[in-house]
Amino acid sequence: MAISIPRGTQDILPGEIEKWQLIEQKARELCEKYQYQEIRTPIFEHTDLFLRGVGDTTDIVQKEMYTFEDRGGRSITLRPEGTAAVVRSFVEKKMFGYANQPVKLYYMGPMFRYERPQAGRFRQFVQFGIEALGSNDPAIDAEVISLAMNLYKEMGLRKLKLIINSLGDKESRTAHREALVNHFKPRIGEFCHDCQNRLEKNPLRILDCKQDRDHELMKSAPSILEYLNDYSKAYFEKLQKYLTQLDIPFEVDTNLVRGLDYYNHTAFEIMSNAEGFGAITTLCGGGRYNGLAEEIGGPETPGIGFALSIERFIAALKAEGIELEINEGIDCYLASLGDEAKDYTVSLLQQLRLAGFSAERDYLDRKIKAQFKAADRLKAKYVAILGDDELKNNKINVKNMATGEQEEIALESFIQYFQGLKQ
Ligand code: HAM
Repeated sequence: MAISIPRGTQDILPGEIEKWQLIEQKARELCEKYQYQEIRTPIFEHTDLFLRGVGDTTDIVQKEMYTFEDRGGRSITLRPEGTAAVVRSFVEKKMFGYANQPVKLYYMGPMFRYERPQAGRFRQFVQFGIEALGSNDPAIDAEVISLAMNLYKEMGLRKLKLIINSLGDKESRTAHREALVNHFKPRIGEFCHDCQNRLEKNPLRILDCKQDRDHELMKSAPSILEYLNDYSKAYFEKLQKYLTQLDIPFEVDTNLVRGLDYYNHTAFEIMSNAEGFGAITTLCGGGRYNGLAEEIGGPETPGIGFALSIERFIAALKAEGIELEINEGIDCYLASLGDEAKDYTVSLLQQLRLAGFSAERDYLDRKIKAQFKAADRLKAKYVAILGDDELKNNKINVKNMATGEQEEIALESFIQYFQGLKQ
């Protein structure tokens, strides 16, 4: 029996991969402009990192991690997200000592979550994310949000909605937490088993529960905004001022709590409101995580970032009917007629490629007509035709496939001729 691909994963084949490459390239370009530098951390980490970093009451840690014991008896987890690992590296490599602060990093790579696969939800997915560590300036929160928004916009997306919230600092959260416990406690019996556990451990998580979403106590739950202390309130106001200054429309949604435990102050998500996008509309999520470095054993360091998946990015492009410009076609197809000419194209092909052109030849011993068909399939801009006779006379024919014009040129000036065409 043939072996099939694991559930919740996908093969990305030529024809589709070009979209990924384009998005990745645009992301890298934007990071260069915004001065974020790439970091690559391992695909697996010690399980403890995520227990402490992501939080042991989150769905990710409780239900979704790919955790296993390695041959040395250590508990290892395939990374479900990138932030904890980046902060681990920041602490371990003492990046807090760098002269250049804040430290601004980006990453791109596969993440793993054992979720129920559906449209937009995979068990292996690729995140592009950024993290800015070391600054407590709300202007950097606005910068992080604007990088994500600009990436989507530059790829042509228009139907975007940005929602923001403040989760406040420790003091504000403690006050809010107490209010939440008082609110839910008398009727916690009506909530799911998970929420009953969350009440004492992490009542904020109740607001994120998918099962109890429609319970009447959800809508009347005390809003964090009423419990923000002066510092947190001023921080949130500054962020909104900067977003307005940057012409980035947003909505404040006090129910936005995010699915990871490390957040405080700013939390945000970017959704697609394209018609027919499907049930899962969140394209990008992020926020501030000021206590995380300490949690992982480092010095107190403020941080903010986001992550978005390429899978949902591509789904949003599709929902808005945006076709990316891909498959431009190759520069030259080398067609040959006769054995000697065929042999000669081996080195001619190499010369073209080394001169910077994309070029291809026949490897299936095809007749000249079939070679032209192959050139068409590759969308060749030029076809160079070399026959045994031409080879004897040191000539080669070059056909411009757009105009149909054909020219005979000296073989030794072929590469030079081609370079001239490209200028
Ligand atoms: P997150 O909200 O868990 O946050 O994930 C961020 C994004 O990853 C989501 O908005 C979505 O685009 C994508 N994503 C998550 N799960 C899946 C899945 N199963 N299939 C496809 N795409 C998915 C984080 O991961 C945080 N580390 C973000 C962050 C960075 N916060 C601060 N810095």
